[in-house]
Amino acid sequence: MKNVLFVCTGNICRSPIAEGLFRRLTGNRKDIEVASAGVHAVRGQPPSLYAVEVCAQEGTNISDLRSQPLTGVLVDQATHIFAMTGAHVETIQTLFPQSAEKTFLLREFEEPGTTVWRDVPDPIGLGREVYEDCASIIKNALPSVLAFVEQGELVRPGAPRSSEISYSMDHLSRQFEPGSNASTSAPCYGEVLRRVDPEIFDAIAAEEKRQRENIELIASENFTSRAVMEAQGSVMTNKYAEGYPRKRWYGGCENVDTAEQLAIDRAKRLFGCEHVNVQPHSGAQANMAVYFSMLKPGDKILAMNLAHGGHLTHEEVRPAMITAGASAYPRIIDFPRLRQIADSVGAILFIDMAHIAGLVAGGQHPSPMPHAQFVTTTTHKSLRGPRGGIVMCEEKFAKQIDATVFPGVQGGPLMHVIAAKAVCFHEALQPQFRDYQRQVVTNAKALAAGIGKHGYRIVSGGTDNHLMLVDLRPKEINGKEAQEVLDRAGITVNKNGIPFDTYPIFKPGGIRVGTPAVTTRGMKEEEMLEISDLIAEALQNRTDEAVLNRVRDKVRDLTRRFPLPS
Ligand SMILES: Cc1ncc(COP(=O)(O)O)c(C=O)c1O
Repeated sequence: MKNVLFVCTGNICRSPIAEGLFRRLTGNRKDIEVASAGVHAVRGQPPSLYAVEVCAQEGTNISDLRSQPLTGVLVDQATHIFAMTGAHVETIQTLFPQSAEKTFLLREFEEPGTTVWRDVPDPIGLGREVYEDCASIIKNALPSVLAFVEQGELVRPGAPRSSEISYSMDHLSRQFEPGSNASTSAPCYGEVLRRVDPEIFDAIAAEEKRQRENIELIASENFTSRAVMEAQGSVMTNKYAEGYPRKRWYGGCENVDTAEQLAIDRAKRLFGCEHVNVQPHSGAQANMAVYFSMLKPGDKILAMNLAHGGHLTHEEVRPAMITAGASAYPRIIDFPRLRQIADSVGAILFIDMAHIAGLVAGGQHPSPMPHAQFVTTTTHKSLRGPRGGIVMCEEKFAKQIDATVFPGVQGGPLMHVIAAKAVCFHEALQPQFRDYQRQVVTNAKALAAGIGKHGYRIVSGGTDNHLMLVDLRPKEINGKEAQEVLDRAGITVNKNGIPFDTYPIFKPGGIRVGTPAVTTRGMKEEEMLEISDLIAEALQNRTDEAVLNRVRDKVRDLTRRFPLPS
């Protein structure tokens, strides 16, 4: 015997409509009992007039129903509870925790693709047409509800039981079925989030799908391991820990101290630095910490020209600091030479190795560490860790840097992110990380060769690292258009200015293409050539939607063969 309970607020509009329509659908079968209740219902109220009328129109009479509050007895009797809104689900589960595994949101049973809305809207006090809409939403979901109830499964296959729900993001590792619609598919992971905040759940699910299905060629992006995500999605987010390990302002910091000290020790081992501050929330903040520690207002900085990817100029300037580091420079940066130049003008050398940190850690690019007084990096690019930054420096600058990061430019550290940074450094210290970085560079060379073969100019003739700049002008396409066309084909790149660009900045002459993310998926040279063919096919046929769709299908085939890290 199944006992189905529909729940809304007052049990006079939505849930009696659901009860009536479900009775009609089941034909009053003896093996399924149906009832309805309200989380704030007053006992004994008749259904609202329009609710009765719209049900009558559907051939079912609910005028005899009377409202009842949701009680523990009703919850315990029910085998399945269907709530009208996410808020109802939350209330039911808060009041009756034992209901967690049998409570569902009604609209999740609508046909995939029907809607992005999760709640059956409350029609009370509104016109008849609103009741009609409401009845039609409920009616659409009921055949799946019935099928689900008939299955006899309390929990949908793949859905975690509440006892298994933890703070980890483990559920995110579950893959959707090919072709399923993430925003409306059955609950299969992140069960708690799904119930509490279905809109954010949907956005995350859709993003997971996008990352899984598309080819990611943005040079500054990567896919972290599940271990990194578990650390980042952990209880460490709850802890205030202003200060540094063993020197905190607040109590209860013994565990976050362990995490931060591990991150520090591992970063030192990974990069061979004397001092590291692992607290910067991002690369920009790490850089600000260096500037605010070392420069006075009015001091000059000599930096690499963005569009030229690092061409040193302005030699007449006597800078206090030389900053080097790039986001679109495909060649080895000569750190010893930069140090020589810095010393010759009495400047501090500061290297921002955000893009190449993974290559440095994996031995595929010379390290700036012995040459620069300050080195910063983000942790989320080729290093494949959580989104964040770190600052490294010689021991003699340690106090200044630490005081500038906190309390100078930041407040409490993000301890969950620092824990995830520690995991990232641990992974980067493993021998396989070197193999991964070697493949990143090999793949970049293969991709550059493949794209060049199709008649595009690779700036500087190739690449030594993880990225390349593609000059599209030989084919008279601008970077903005290329980015948009490739997006439609499921290939993600970013538009980028190129040295001596003749196109305007918002429609520049190039795109930047990088291989860290596709290499994380396990792709090799062969796939790089396949990708270069796909890029060329899409750009060549950029106004032909049918070709773009075909390319997109090939992209899907490729990404399906190379799953995201689990
Ligand atoms: C070389 C370089 N440094 C710093 C940053 C800034 O990092 P974040 O976005 O973490 O502030 C970037 C961003 O792409 C970068 O390319």
